[in-house]
Amino acid sequence: MKDTIILGIESSCDETSVAVVKNGREVLSNVINTQISIHELYGGVVPEIASRNHVENISPVMKEALKQANVTLDDIDGIACTYGPGLVGALLVGVAYAKALSYASGKPLIATNHIEGHIAANYITYKELKPPFLTLLISGGNTQIVLVKDYTRFEILGKTRDDAVGEAFDKVARVIGLGYPGGPKMDKLAKEGTPNIELPKVHVDGLDFSFSGLKTAVINLHHKMPDINKADLAASFEKNVAEILIENTKKAIKETGITKIALAGGVSANSYIRKEFSKLQDEKNIEVYYPELKLCTDNAAMIASAGYYNFIKGNTSDLTLNAVPNLKL
Ligand code: KG4
Repeated sequence: MKDTIILGIESSCDETSVAVVKNGREVLSNVINTQISIHELYGGVVPEIASRNHVENISPVMKEALKQANVTLDDIDGIACTYGPGLVGALLVGVAYAKALSYASGKPLIATNHIEGHIAANYITYKELKPPFLTLLISGGNTQIVLVKDYTRFEILGKTRDDAVGEAFDKVARVIGLGYPGGPKMDKLAKEGTPNIELPKVHVDGLDFSFSGLKTAVINLHHKMPDINKADLAASFEKNVAEILIENTKKAIKETGITKIALAGGVSANSYIRKEFSKLQDEKNIEVYYPELKLCTDNAAMIASAGYYNFIKGNTSDLTLNAVPNLKL
């Protein structure tokens, strides 16, 4: 069978990324230009600045991706771009670029959901992974337990009722003075601490989550006791989050009878959460999958992989495609 080569474009937040992926699983290139050092100055992503930087970066990043993959546009079968969810101005840059490229090259455009991309990151790391399986999607904008029925069919079994886990990590990090991006800094600091601080665990019915109570409790504690050991606080926060995630994952496994669980999204890079999920794998007859670290956070290879599965189903778009900032799975 002829190989299918997809060009992926990602610009939903503060990473401009273009990738070339063969048959949905083999990464030929995955160029990521991160704007972290720019937004760090402001303590978070400034949407307008993100859009401007995407405009500047997208052409060179695309050229570099083609060069590293050793292909030209002629070799590409389809152009997959993230059209949501994300920051509207940032998304528009990738969407407009992909549309122009599709028009100029005559190659089909594949509108790709960023969340599907995070799930697809696992297909790149685990060549043998096939649906059905469960996904615990833990990112800056989403926290969901998803039943992946097929490559393009999903059912959300549970979701956060307030903050996404990554959002809670980032807000706690900001208040305790770690700055942006909070998640990786909390991860590092927590390793120096002991999880010995009692924090409230918010239980929600079914498979839903709630993290805002925990976040507020940590922030209030820090305000009341400014000398509190920050490393212990970070470790206690992480432990609490991991317990909630594992509790709901176990419930989802019990309810569905599906024992394969794939982690996805930026927070799945967290070393403590990965370690705790590995224990779950050791304890029970459960298979846990984690994308390699580079594929946990935003990148275009995962978009090209998700795009590939839509492309082979015939799900292509026309040039009326627009960005959808609050797109759901
Ligand atoms: O998936 P992602 O790159 O963007 C979205 O699609 O939302 O996730 C970004 C989130 C941020 O909240 C960031 O702080 C968090 O993932 N994150 C982490 C770690 N690395 C990234 N959170 C905890 N521990 C980490 N090591």
